Parts: sequence; structure tokens; C-alpha cells
Amino acid sequence: MELNNKTILTGVKPTGTLHFGNYAGALKPAVELGHQVNREGGRHIMFVADYHAINAIKDAPLLKQLTREIACAYLACGLDPKTSYFYKQSDVPELFELTTILMAYTPKGFMNKAHAYKAAVDKNVAKGEPNDAGINMGLYTYPVLMAADILAYDTDLVPVGKDQIQHVEIAADIAGSINAHYGRQVFKLPRYFTTEATETVPGTDGRKMSKSYNNVIPLFADDATLKKAVMGIKTDCQDINAPKNPDEILLYQILRGIAPTALVAEVRAGLEKGGMGYGTIKKMLLQALIDEVGEKREKYMYYLTHFDEVEDMLHDGAIRARTLVQPVLERAKDAIFNRK
Ligand code: TRP
Repeated sequence: MELNNKTILTGVKPTGTLHFGNYAGALKPAVELGHQVNREGGRHIMFVADYHAINAIKDAPLLKQLTREIACAYLACGLDPKTSYFYKQSDVPELFELTTILMAYTPKGFMNKAHAYKAAVDKNVAKGEPNDAGINMGLYTYPVLMAADILAYDTDLVPVGKDQIQHVEIAADIAGSINAHYGRQVFKLPRYFTTEATETVPGTDGRKMSKSYNNVIPLFADDATLKKAVMGIKTDCQDINAPKNPDEILLYQILRGIAPTALVAEVRAGLEKGGMGYGTIKKMLLQALIDEVGEKREKYMYYLTHFDEVEDMLHDGAIRARTLVQPVLERAKDAIFNRK
């Protein structure tokens, strides 16, 4: 992918309890992509979507805590706030002007079809509640704010998981209809590319790793907590010496998503041949986890306890981000108010 002179933008919602599933699937690839973009002469923008979060999280101290955790996690994992643009959405007020402009060009029907809204309606229907029970306008118009996030920077590319593809398409559609209406390029049309991890890390019970299933390996926990999670990974009772198919073994699947290739190959061979016990593999996995996040964990704790430093970085990021948004907003106002 050609990244020179390209603007790549990603938003993350503060979610809570970061685990190795988030790490392998989102955090690590996003930070690596950031390094690659900066190295190859592109512009990398990454932000915490805290205004998107308030649609769901109304508990203010909780939102504050989750926002802090996600910001510290990205920094701890190596996101460089000097070369990348890293900020909180709420610190860029131009986005909300832009949202109002985009609203006027967003067919209501688009929102009716948006996944997040449809999923909420389906849940209500399943519970026998009225369709729109508990659904606020923030959730309903979620894709418009997201379109503003994207269009504000003349973004070329948005790396997304499958669930976010539709949102980027909506952003491109809105941009396209505004451009067509005014007969000029007011907004750049963004494209998505999917980042669906080839290796997903299952939870300790084999289901998707998720806090609600109580099967996570927490990302920044201490060694004892990590150990407890790893020792709790479900195993079968095949004979230790029996040759096994690694792909059918949960412990191996988890290891494969996280551990270095050489270790994965070693364990694969050991299982296929027989003789390598699950206890041994668990110890290897635990060590691999500690090696992977040991240093990051310390940085994370440092940032959490020195959040004023992080706050400064985020504010700095927002100031830089706003210098990019302002000309785009002016361009839009020139068109809609016939100024230029
Ligand atoms: N909706 C995205 C998510 O739930 C977060 C997000 C907000 C985003 N604005 C964005 C992602 C802009 C990419 C671009 O994960």
C-alpha cells in the first residue's frame, strides 16, 4: 500500500479492561501501522472517540477512567505522539460544526440502516420492547459524527474492522453528495481498508475473549494475575505422549496469536510429535506474555500515575489536529454559504 502523502486516520472508543485480544487485534497493529505511515511519509492520526462513548457511557468517573486507560495504553504500546496526531475527539470543537453541516446532507434512511442502530433495535425487539427503547440520537446519528472525524482531515484511508466498513462508506457517500451538489471537491472521499487480524486470540474458555464472558487474559496485569489467567486456560485430557493436532488445541491457538514465531513453531512441533505437556506450554506462554508486555506494563503504570503528562500530549495533539481541520471546515463553509 502506497502511504506517501496519505492521511491515515483511526478512532478508538474507550472500552475498558484491556486484554490480550484487544492487544493482538487492535492496539499492536494500530501502533505498528502508525510507525509505518510516519516512516513512509504519510500522516497518521489517532484519537480517542470520547464523544462517541457518551452515547453509551453516562457514568462520568467511569468514562474519565476508561479514556485515561485507552490513551495510556496506546502510548505504552509505542504510539509516538510527536510524529502521529494523538488527541481526544472532544478537544477538537471544529468537528461538531462539521457534524452539523454533514447532518443536512445525510438522508435519514442511511441512519435507519446503520449497523449500530439496527443492532440496538434488534435487541429491543428480541426483548419484546418498543423498537427505539433506550436509543438516543447520539447512537442513531453515530455515523455522522464518525464521518466528521474522517472528512475533517481530508483522510485518504481508514483502517477498520469489518463492523466499521459501513460507517466509512456512509462518510464517503455524504462527502460525495456534498461535492456533487456544489460541483466542487469540498471533501476528499475516504476509503477503508480492513485490518481484521488473521490471528484472533480466543479467550481462556475458547469463546471470543471478552470481559462479559470472564475469560480474558488482562493486558497490563501483574505476573500473578497473568499466571492465574494462563493456568485457567481450558485443556483436554489427551495423553501427554499422544501426537496432537495443534490447530484443535485452545492453548496453542492462544499462543499463536501472541507469542513470537519461533516459540509458536517449537510448540507446534512439540504437540505434533507428542511429549510436550500442557503445563510446560502454559509456562512458555506465560513467559512469552511477560516478555511481550513487561516493559509496556511499566510505561502504562507510569502514564496512569502521571496523567498530567499524558494530558499535555493529548492537548498538544489536539492543537496540531485543529490546524488541519480548520482549513477543511473553512472550505466547507465557503461552499455552503457561497463565500468563495
Ligand atoms: N466507531 C469506531 C469504533 O467503534 C470508532 C471511531 C469513531 C472511528 N470515529 C472514527 C474509527 C473514525 C475510524 C474513524 O471502533
